[in-house]
Amino acid sequence: MRVSCAVNFLFLAATNLVSFTWGNPVEARSDVLKRAAPISPKVVIISMFAPEAEVWYGKKYHLLALNITVPGLSPLFPEVHCTASGNVCQVITGESEINAASTITAFVQSPEFNLTKSYFLVAGIAGVNPEVATLGSVTFAKYAVQVALQYEFDMRDVPDNFTTGYIPFGVTAPDDYPQTIYGTEVFEVNEALRDVAISFASGVKLNDSQASIAYRAKYSAASAYAAGAEGPSVLGCDVATSDVYFSGTRLSEAFANTTNIWTNGSGIYCTTAQEDNATLEAIMRAAQKNLTEFSRVIVMRTASDFDRPPPGVSEIQNLLYVNQGGFGPAIQNIYIAGVKVVDGILDGWNSTFSKGIAPKNYIGDIFGTLGGTPDFGLPSEYIKIGKRGGLEVEMQGNLRMRRAAEGARRAAGARGISG
Ligand SMILES: *[C@@H]1O[C@H](CO)[C@@H](O)[C@H](O)[C@H]1NC(C)=O
Ligand SMILES: *[C@@H]1O[C@H](CO)[C@@H](O)[C@H](O)[C@H]1NC(C)=O
Ligand SMILES: *[C@@H]1O[C@H](CO)[C@@H](O)[C@H](O)[C@H]1NC(C)=O
Ligand SMILES: *[C@@H]1O[C@H](CO)[C@@H](O)[C@H](O)[C@H]1NC(C)=O
Ligand SMILES: *[C@@H]1O[C@H](CO)[C@@H](O)[C@H](O)[C@H]1NC(C)=O
Ligand SMILES: *[C@@H]1O[C@H](CO)[C@@H](O)[C@H](O)[C@H]1NC(C)=O
Ligand SMILES: *[C@@H]1O[C@H](CO)[C@@H](O)[C@H](O)[C@H]1NC(C)=O
Ligand SMILES: *[C@@H]1O[C@H](CO)[C@@H](O)[C@H](O)[C@H]1NC(C)=O
Ligand SMILES: *[C@@H]1O[C@H](CO)[C@@H](O)[C@H](O)[C@H]1NC(C)=O
Repeated sequence: MRVSCAVNFLFLAATNLVSFTWGNPVEARSDVLKRAAPISPKVVIISMFAPEAEVWYGKKYHLLALNITVPGLSPLFPEVHCTASGNVCQVITGESEINAASTITAFVQSPEFNLTKSYFLVAGIAGVNPEVATLGSVTFAKYAVQVALQYEFDMRDVPDNFTTGYIPFGVTAPDDYPQTIYGTEVFEVNEALRDVAISFASGVKLNDSQASIAYRAKYSAASAYAAGAEGPSVLGCDVATSDVYFSGTRLSEAFANTTNIWTNGSGIYCTTAQEDNATLEAIMRAAQKNLTEFSRVIVMRTASDFDRPPPGVSEIQNLLYVNQGGFGPAIQNIYIAGVKVVDGILDGWNSTFSKGIAPKNYIGDIFGTLGGTPDFGLPSEYIKIGKRGGLEVEMQGNLRMRRAAEGARRAAGARGISG
C-alpha cells in the first residue's frame, strides 16, 4: 500500500480493527485441525493491509467463513480467510517488500492449500503518475519493476551532471542499464490474462469523491498531466515496487526512466507500491516447483494518491498535507473492480479458467527462471562496456548473465573496442 500522511489517521483506526484476531485461539478451531484434503481456491485475493482486506467483507463472497492459521504469516494477519467452499481465499501480506515476500512464501508452501490451479489477484492501492492515470483509477500491470534496487546519493551529494541520485548497480550513470542483477528487478505477468481482467472490470461505475474531483482539476494546468485531470478509469499500465515511499516530481521522473530502461522501453510507469515484486518473486519460486502457475497472476492497483503535485502545489504539500481525497475511492474501487474479476473467473471456470489462459508474452523474471527468454532487459544498447570484466566474475555460473556479458562483448566488438 502507499498513501499519504493526510489520511494516516484512517490507517490507525483501521489497524486497530485487526486486533480482534489477537485474543482469539484460532489453533483450537476444529475445522482447521480436521481438514482432510487441502483447500484448492480458484481465486486468491492478495491484500496488503487492513483497509484493502476489509473492503471485501460483508459482501458477495463470505471470506470469513473459514480461517486457516498458516505458520509464517504476518503477526498482524496470521490467518488466510476463505469462503465455505474454499473457492475464494484471501491472504493479507502486511506492508512492504519483506512482509510480502515472507507471507506469500509461507502461504504458497503451506500443505493446507493446493494452489496449482489458483488465480492470484494482487488487489491494493497505490501512488499514481498523473501522466498516465488519476485518483481512483483501476490499473492492471504487465510489468512490476523494483525501481529502488540501485545505489543512492542524497540530493546534495549528487554530481552536477546527474539528473537523479539513483544509479543502477554495477554502472556509473543514472541511465545505464544495471550490470549487477539481483533477479527481482523486473517481473512480467500474463498479458492475455491481464487483458481479460481489464475486460471484466471495464464498465463498472467507479467510486469517486468531491475532494478527488477538486484536486484532479488542478492537473489540467499542465498538458503532460492530462490523464491526471480526467475522471477515474480502468486501464493497463505498470507498477513500480519500492520499500522507500518516494514522492515528488524528480524521483517520480527518475523511476519512470528506470522502468523504461529496465523494460527496454515497453513498461509504462504508472502506479507505485511497496510489495508487488516481492509477491511475484514468491509466487514465481513456487511456480518453479509446480506449486503455482505464474501465468495465473493478476496485478491490480487502484490509485489513492498522486506521486507528484499539480502546478501551484508544493511537493511537500502534495505528500503530507493536501487531502487528495483518493484513499476512500481507491479502497472502494478495489472491491468494485476486483469482484468483477473474481466473478468472471468463477463463472468461466469450466469453459476457460480451469485450463488457463495461455500467455502470448514472456512471463517470469529477468533470469528466465521459468523458461523462455525475457522480452525486456539487457538490451545491448544499454550494456556499457566499462564494467564488463567485473560483471563476468561476479556472475560466473549464471548462464543468463554470461549471455548478457557475451552480448556486451559483441556490442563492444561492433564498435571496435577490444578488451
Ligand atoms: C474468522 O476470523 C474473523 C476475524 O478475523 C472473525 O470475524 C470470523 O468470525 C472468523 N470466522 C470463523 C468461522 O470463526
Ligand atoms: C493439487 O491439485 C492438482 C490439480 O487439481 C492435482 O493434480 C494434485 O494432485 C493436487 N495435489 C495435492 C497434493 O493434492
Ligand atoms: C516487478 O514487477 C514489475 C511489474 O509487475 C515487473 O515488470 C517486474 O518484472 C517485476 N520484477 C521482478 C523481479 O519480478
Ligand atoms: C559526470 O562528470 C564526471 C566528471 O566530473 C564524469 O566522470 C562522468 O562521466 C559524468 N557522468 C555523466 C553521466 O555525464
Ligand atoms: C463512494 O463510496 C462511499 C463509501 O461507500 C459512498 O459513501 C459514496 O457515496 C460513494 N460515491 C460514489 C460516487 O459512488
Ligand atoms: C529521464 O530521462 C530523460 C530522457 O533521457 C532525461 O531528459 C531526464 O532528465 C531524466 N529524468 C531524471 C529525473 O533522471
Ligand atoms: C513441473 O511440471 C513439469 C511439467 O509437467 C515437469 O516437467 C517438471 O519436472 C515439474 N517440476 C517439478 C519440480 O516437479
Ligand atoms: C462446472 O463443472 C462442475 C463439475 O463438472 C459442475 O459441478 C459445475 O456445475 C460446473 N459449473 C458451471 C458454471 O457450469
Ligand atoms: C529492445 O527493444 C528493441 C526495439 O523495440 C528490440 O529491437 C530489441 O530486440 C529489444 N531487446 C530485447 C532484449 O528484447
